[in-house]
Amino acid sequence: MPELSLRSMLGCLGSRQPKRRLPPRTAQIASQSSPRRVSSSDISSPEDLSLSVIGSNLHMFTVSEIRDATEEFSKRNLIGKGGFGKVYKGHVGEGLRPGLRAQAVAVKLMDLDGLQGHKEWLAEVIFLGQLRHPHLVKLIGYCYEDQYRVLVYEFMDQGSLEKHLFKWLLCSLPWSARLKIAVGAAKGLTFLHEAEKPVIYRDFKASNILLDADYQAKLSDFGLAKDGPEGDNSHVSTRVMGTAGYCAPEYVMTGHLTVKSDVYSFGVVLLELLTGRRSVDRSRPSREQHLVDWAKPHLNSPQRLGRIMDPNLDGRYSALGAQKAAALAHWCLRRNPKSRPLMRTVVETLEPLLGLDDVPSGPFVFNVPSATADDGGDDGGDDDGGATPRRRRGRSSSWDQKHKQRFPNSSIHSDARKTLRNHVAKIQEEGTLP
Ligand SMILES: Nc1ncnc2c1ncn2[C@@H]1O[C@H](COP(=O)(O)OP(=O)(O)OP(=O)(O)O)[C@@H](O)[C@H]1O
Ligand SMILES: [Mg+2]
Repeated sequence: MPELSLRSMLGCLGSRQPKRRLPPRTAQIASQSSPRRVSSSDISSPEDLSLSVIGSNLHMFTVSEIRDATEEFSKRNLIGKGGFGKVYKGHVGEGLRPGLRAQAVAVKLMDLDGLQGHKEWLAEVIFLGQLRHPHLVKLIGYCYEDQYRVLVYEFMDQGSLEKHLFKWLLCSLPWSARLKIAVGAAKGLTFLHEAEKPVIYRDFKASNILLDADYQAKLSDFGLAKDGPEGDNSHVSTRVMGTAGYCAPEYVMTGHLTVKSDVYSFGVVLLELLTGRRSVDRSRPSREQHLVDWAKPHLNSPQRLGRIMDPNLDGRYSALGAQKAAALAHWCLRRNPKSRPLMRTVVETLEPLLGLDDVPSGPFVFNVPSATADDGGDDGGDDDGGATPRRRRGRSSSWDQKHKQRFPNSSIHSDARKTLRNHVAKIQEEGTLP
């Protein structure tokens, strides 16, 4: 089907693009099943955008509505900050727009001095406005007024995978939750890669995987997403962008981007889930700083795998499941992109692991991270792969007290902690999640 330009589409509607026509309050976007997806290059004004998103149910908000939703961007509501800008928790009330229910939202406000800008904002609106899937975060709407560029998403109760794996000290993510997250994220990537016009996500990493109350994973941040190659082209050539530690080596070296670049990044996140380590961690001894280099030699050997598994799991994982997941990570991380699996194959390999019931049960274990980066047995000794922090079993109360004295402002001593504990308890009760 020949590509239609936005202007020719508008022409079909019998009018040239109106100069000053106010955009409708609820914009509509061409649905995913449409033969043509709009690209960022089609859009040069707020009017273009509102007209091009016909059919999407994206809502267009005013700055004053965004201010109301976030209580004037109150610090109380600040939930994070990334390269694009600050993220606030907000609330949209009943009746603000027809078809928009009252709900909690996450509001991302573009930082005018930030690393990303209008281009990334637009890519997000264009991609997420047209692609809907249970494993992609839902974009509810946007604000495009004066210098304001805002994105309004469904609120994800459990924040990012990065927080769960690396920032929350309270407890480690149980094995079943890790697998569920890996499967969900893999399904999100499969959907993108197999779309009528494939999308390369390009920024697959733990902080861009958001989790709802049931640990359902959803991909967020489409600022770097790219349309896949067309016609006979095997790749897209782009400026190298993404996050160090997650990018495929051939992409970093040549700028050639394919869906297999995402598969590599998936392999890195799978390693993070298995080991509880960040893709790059400068606080570790030099030979352990790059997760892929450190972990890869251990992935295809059941004996060696135990040395790199996240000690916070305390052995409570399916041995067979871990072996299969590790072998899959190895496959995803192959240097030759053509030898990496398709994301569909990744899903097919991971999903059955959810049903394995050889997970040892036992009392819940809290792991006490070292107070300093170099403290504890993390000196790179080969016996445990340098992966064993100091650990205390069983009751958390004495550890709680000590931790509270030492870090009185830590968020784990707040209500958030209770919520997290309840969720983990729920997951443990349920065993393997659906
Ligand atoms: N829809 C959402 N629901 C709940 N929390 C969110 C949502 N979107 C983002 N966040 C939180 O806001 C924080 C910042 O997200 P953001 O995507 O801006 O930055 P990042 O992913 O940490 O870094 P980067 O700029 O590299 O993507 C994250 O920690 C995430 O947990
Ligand atoms: Mg992000």
